Formats: sequence, C-alpha cells, structure tokens
Amino acid sequence: MYRRPLISVAPMMDWTDRHERYLLRLISTKILLYTEMIHVGAVLHGERDRHLAYSPEEHPLAIQLGGADPSQLAQCAAIVEEWGFFEINLNVGCPSDRVQHGQFGACLMAQPARVAECVARMQDTVNIPISVKCRTGLDNDEGIDRLFTLVTHLHQVGCDKLIVHARHAWLNGLSPKQNRQIPPLNYQLVYEIKRLFPMMHVTLNGGIQSHKQIQQVLPKVDGVMVGRAAYQQPFLLQEVDNLYYGRGVSSKSRVEVLDSYLDYVLVQQQQFGVPLSAMVRHLFHFFHGVPGAKAWRRYLSDNLPRGNASVATLREAAKSICIEDGRCPTNSHQEGHSCQLNHSLPSSP
Ligand SMILES: Cc1cc2nc3c(=O)[nH]c(=O)nc-3n(C[C@H](O)[C@H](O)[C@H](O)COP(=O)(O)O)c2cc1C
Repeated sequence: MYRRPLISVAPMMDWTDRHERYLLRLISTKILLYTEMIHVGAVLHGERDRHLAYSPEEHPLAIQLGGADPSQLAQCAAIVEEWGFFEINLNVGCPSDRVQHGQFGACLMAQPARVAECVARMQDTVNIPISVKCRTGLDNDEGIDRLFTLVTHLHQVGCDKLIVHARHAWLNGLSPKQNRQIPPLNYQLVYEIKRLFPMMHVTLNGGIQSHKQIQQVLPKVDGVMVGRAAYQQPFLLQEVDNLYYGRGVSSKSRVEVLDSYLDYVLVQQQQFGVPLSAMVRHLFHFFHGVPGAKAWRRYLSDNLPRGNASVATLREAAKSICIEDGRCPTNSHQEGHSCQLNHSLPSSP
C-alpha cells in the first residue's frame, strides 16, 4: 500500500496548518504530510470548514485525530474519509496537560486495549488506512514492554502502520516542548519493534535533521518522519523526491517556490479573507542557511507581530537576501544587482 521508504512531515500543532502544508508541498511533491492534531469534538461539533479544509495540492495528506472514545472516533473517521484524507492517524503521544485532562494522547500508552478498540472501530467504518503515532514508553518505563504490549494489541486488530516518536513521554513536570527535548531519544527501541513486527510499517520519528541521518535509519525501518527540522529548514525537503522516490525531476528553486506560494497567498487565499500574516508567518524560516537569512527573520519578527504583514514587508525583509541563479553569492543587495528574489515579489501591496 505504501511506497517504501516513506518520508513524512510530522503533525505539529500551530505549525503544520494548511498554509504551511501548501508551502512544503511546493518543495516536495511526494512527501506525506500530516495535519495538526484535530480533536474529535472539533470534527463532530466544531466548524468543519475551519478544521478540515485543505487545498487539493496538499495530497498525499493524512489527518491526525485526538480522542479516546471509540464511537466518536468512528464517527469522525466517516466524516474525514468523505473529506478525502489519505490516512487517519490516532495521536497516542501528546503529553500536554489539556490532553492529559481529556485522557487521550500519550495517556493512551497505558491503555493498549482501548487504543486497539479505537483503531478497530475506525477500521470497520472506513476504507482508508488507520495508523497510530505513539511514544516509546511513559515516565520511568524500562525496556520495551509497554510499547510491545501496545503494538501487540494493534497487530491483533489488523493495524499495520505505526509511527514512533523515539522518546518516552513524561507525564508530570514537563511542558510539551520539554517533552520533545529532555526524554532521551532511543532509536533502538523502534528498530526492535520493527524486528519483532516485520509485517508492520514502522516509521521512526524524533531528532532527524539531515538526509545523512535519514539514510542511516532507513535500512532499519520503513519510514522516517521529520518534525521541527521540516519547519525550521524547509529546504531540507528539496531532495526528498529524488533521493527516496526516484523521481529524477529537478526540484523547484527557492525563488520558484516563493513565487508559487505568493501566488497561493495573494491570489487564492486572500480572496477568502485569510489574513496575510497567517500565511506569511510560515516564511520565517524560508531562507534558512542562505546569507542574509538572519536579517530576514529579524525584520519579519519585528514587523509581523505588529500587524505589518504586506508584500511591502516581504520586499523590505528581502533586501537582506540576494539570490542569483538560485544561489546566493552575496548578502548585500547592491544597486543594479540582478536579484531574482526581488524580481519575484510583486510591487503592489
Ligand atoms: C510546535 C509543535 C507542535 C506539535 N504538535 C503535535 C501534534 O499535534 N501531534 C503530534 O502527534 N505531535 C506533535 N508534535 C510532535 C511532533 O509531531 C514530533 O513527534 C516531535 O517534534 C519529534 O520530532 P522532531 O524531533 O523531528 O521534531 C509537535 C511538535 C512541535 C514542535
């Protein structure tokens, strides 16, 4: 069912909204994208358009659901299948207080039978794949027992795709951010799960920042999921199609991606009243690694929070960046210098 190896971008609340996903899709045509976690209540009782709408270009696109009630999840599954998502993923890894209060997310690592029931009910309801994203364990767990028990339950109900964030979740005393930094990474537990369940599609997540790392990990698992690095260095994804899917096509340059994204922002989205700042904020890390990127970020962070989001803001910020022939030979925007970036930014506000 899945092309292997499969590279994906992690669900990230407030980061992987539809605009960020559109931007990332311009960089890689193949990578699997995930929505932010959407709570079952929002799907069943909220404004569906706000939570579920996406652009067809974002495909392949999976949705991540948060919840722990099998029948609510089954109802949601039916709804999101109609919206055309490629896969449904159940969140069994979020440690936030709010999520713990609702008894879903990482808490479910302690309730393997319930997770299996949730997955089974969704599987019975829809035809799209159901996957689970979990942690390696909880708190002071030693060894693989908790993860092994969870995966055994999942395997018994026929779930065949697992994404493991290779860290335990510590349920007390750490913020979600600290829970992505402090519990140590343990890839061996993920490799071991793949060895014990060879029939399962196992994706490793956590701490991946380079293609070198991806290539070291891939022989031992079926897929790699990249989180923060995809947001903070989006052009890391530029080589994904060629390296892992054998596309043999040249990827878009930064200027071409920016051009297409601005077309999406200014032509497609603004007509629906989407505030420019909600889309421009995802360009903050756009020039990661390019000379002048620091000044670009500084200009945007000084101006976007003040509500100064306009093409003029981008033009001003872009003065620090100079891209010629897709490369950046200089960080000083000289008079008369032919800069593709500045040509690509429209002059009207
Ligand atoms: C801002 C942010 C929001 C996140 N929101 C979610 C979420 O909604 N669902 C989820 O399963 N994980 C969420 N995560 C965790 C990531 O999916 C991923 O598991 C984690 O960042 C480790 O991967 P990385 O080291 O490649 O970033 C979030 C991470 C970040 C940085």
